[in-house]
Amino acid sequence: MSYGLLKGKRGIIFGALDENSIAWKTAQRVHEEGGSFVLTNAPIAMRMGTINQLAEATGSKIIPADATSLEDLEKLVNEAVEVLGGKIDFVLHSIGMSVNVRKGRSYTDQKYDWTAKGWDVSAGSFHKVMQVLYKQDAMSEWGSIVALSYMAAQRVFPDYNDMADNKAFLESIARSFGYFFGRDKKVRVNTISQSPTPTTAGKGVKGFDGFISYAEKMSPLGNASALDCANYTVSLFSDLTRKVTLQNLFHDGGFSNMGVSDAVMQAFEDQ
Ligand SMILES: NC(=O)c1ccc[n+]([C@@H]2O[C@H](COP(=O)([O-])OP(=O)(O)OC[C@H]3O[C@@H](n4cnc5c(N)ncnc54)[C@H](O)[C@@H]3O)[C@@H](O)[C@H]2O)c1
Repeated sequence: MSYGLLKGKRGIIFGALDENSIAWKTAQRVHEEGGSFVLTNAPIAMRMGTINQLAEATGSKIIPADATSLEDLEKLVNEAVEVLGGKIDFVLHSIGMSVNVRKGRSYTDQKYDWTAKGWDVSAGSFHKVMQVLYKQDAMSEWGSIVALSYMAAQRVFPDYNDMADNKAFLESIARSFGYFFGRDKKVRVNTISQSPTPTTAGKGVKGFDGFISYAEKMSPLGNASALDCANYTVSLFSDLTRKVTLQNLFHDGGFSNMGVSDAVMQAFEDQ
């Protein structure tokens, strides 16, 4: 269903790799709600993914950018403003990657140049995106910037590895930069802390299947899907949430406030 919530709004969507990506679903929902946007991803992801199909279906231009490169980001923002015909109203940062996770190094045996790469891609890039938008004065007043996080920023999920630290860093950047963006440009900045979701990044985490089933059983509303996340993001891009900023917003069917559920108790009682 469409409510026209983003009619006339312009944006940049980072991180749509394939149809499972949270950014992919968000782009589809933003399009349905009347928003126009530029799609962007790392040049290497362009070769692996299917972003062209999404661009065609939503009438969007693709501008490749490595989100860790200031030069790429400066070009991206300049071009996006030009292509879209005005300042930016919404930005989705949907980017995450840990080389330690990818290569199966445990949290207690990190290779630190991989650790550094992971935090640059997963968290530093968020600061860079915002700094470029801020310096170019490219955001409209009452614009909205959202990044995606996970609850391992607050609680221990051993196999989430150094991504836990990257997400804590990301959430802190949202608060710190959100202050300046709010004070100086009336722009809001939030993170959404999303349920485990079966995407390329999600499934890359060791033990993901156990993880997602456990969360499903613990959450009174069940896990939030990628589409649910897209809908929530649309609400944060809309004018209905203008005074929400500096928040880490849990979007997880209630998981983050649970101690134990009947379904999980049952599994232990049956043993
Ligand atoms: N899947 C989950 O369980 C889950 C849960 C909570 C939060 N998240 C977060 O949601 C976001 C989106 O991930 P997803 O689950 O949709 O997986 P995904 O693999 O579809 O998306 C990750 C994206 O990051 C992009 N990326 C990696 N390096 C980049 C770089 N240098 N420059 C630009 N883009 C780069 C990838 O190309 C990809 O499009 C991530 O921040 C992820 O941590 C995911």
